[in-house]
Amino acid sequence: MAANASFATTLTILFSLLFAVTAEDPYRFFNWNVTYGDIYPLGVRQQGILIDGKFPGPDIHSVTNDNLVINIFNNLDEPFLLSWNGVQQRRNSYVDGVYGTTCPIPPGKNYTYMLQVKDQIGSFYYFPSLAFHKAAGGFGGIRILSRPRIPVPFPDPAGDYTVLIGDWYKSNHTDLKAKLDSGRKLPLPDGILINGRGTGATLNVEQVLEF
Ligand SMILES: *[C@@H]1O[C@H](CO)[C@@H](O)[C@H](O)[C@H]1NC(C)=O
Ligand SMILES: *[C@@H]1O[C@H](CO)[C@@H](O)[C@H](O)[C@H]1NC(C)=O
Ligand SMILES: *[C@@H]1O[C@H](CO)[C@@H](O)[C@H](O)[C@H]1NC(C)=O
Repeated sequence: MAANASFATTLTILFSLLFAVTAEDPYRFFNWNVTYGDIYPLGVRQQGILIDGKFPGPDIHSVTNDNLVINIFNNLDEPFLLSWNGVQQRRNSYVDGVYGTTCPIPPGKNYTYMLQVKDQIGSFYYFPSLAFHKAAGGFGGIRILSRPRIPVPFPDPAGDYTVLIGDWYKSNHTDLKAKLDSGRKLPLPDGILINGRGTGATLNVEQVLEF
C-alpha cells in the first residue's frame, strides 16, 4: 500500500516535471521587409515606408504570455528602429526600440526583436522612432488578447477592429525633419488619416439592444 502511494507520488512528480518542460509559452514569428513605396493617402503621390508592402503595417495579433520573434529587414537607405509603444518589456529593456537602448537596424541589414507580451490585455501600436520616419509610415497595430483560461468580464465581441488615427502631411519625412531640426514648428497638418486613408474608413458594427 505504502509502496503504491509512493509510486503514485513519483508518477505525479514526474508528470509535473514533464508538464513544466512542455508547457512553455507559445511563440509567434514574423518576418517583415521594410521598404520605400508609393502611397497616396491624400490623393498625391508620396514616398511611404511600407512593411511587407503595406501601409499601415500589418497588425500583430497576440495573446498574453506570447513570445514575439520579429525579424525585420531594413531595405531603406537609412537606419531604421521600431518601438513597441506601451508594451512592457519585462526583465528586458533591450528591444524597447528607443534610440540609446536599442541600436537602429543599418540599411540592408536585419535584426530580430524578441519580446514577451505579459498581462497587458488591450491595443497598442508600433512605430519607427528615428528620423521622423513615422511621418512616412512604418506603423501598425498590436493586439494583446486574454488567454482563454483567464476570462474577461464581458461577452466576446462580434468583431474586433484596429483603428489608427493621426495627422498627416503631404511633405515627406526628410523635409519635415529638416524643418524641426532648424528649430521651426511644423505647419498645420494637411489631413487626418484613419487606417492610412484620408477619406476615412468604414467599419461594420452590430447594434446591441439591452433591455
Ligand atoms: C524586400 O523587398 C525588396 C524590394 O521588393 C526586395 O528587393 C528584397 O529582396 C526583399 N527582402 C526580403 C528579405 O524579403
Ligand atoms: C537575419 O535573418 C536571417 C534569416 O532569416 C536569420 O537567420 C538571422 O538570425 C537574422 N539576423 C538577425 C541579427 O536577426
Ligand atoms: C522630399 O521632398 C523633397 C522636395 O520637397 C525632395 O527634394 C527630397 O528628395 C524628398 N526626400 C525623399 C526622401 O524623398
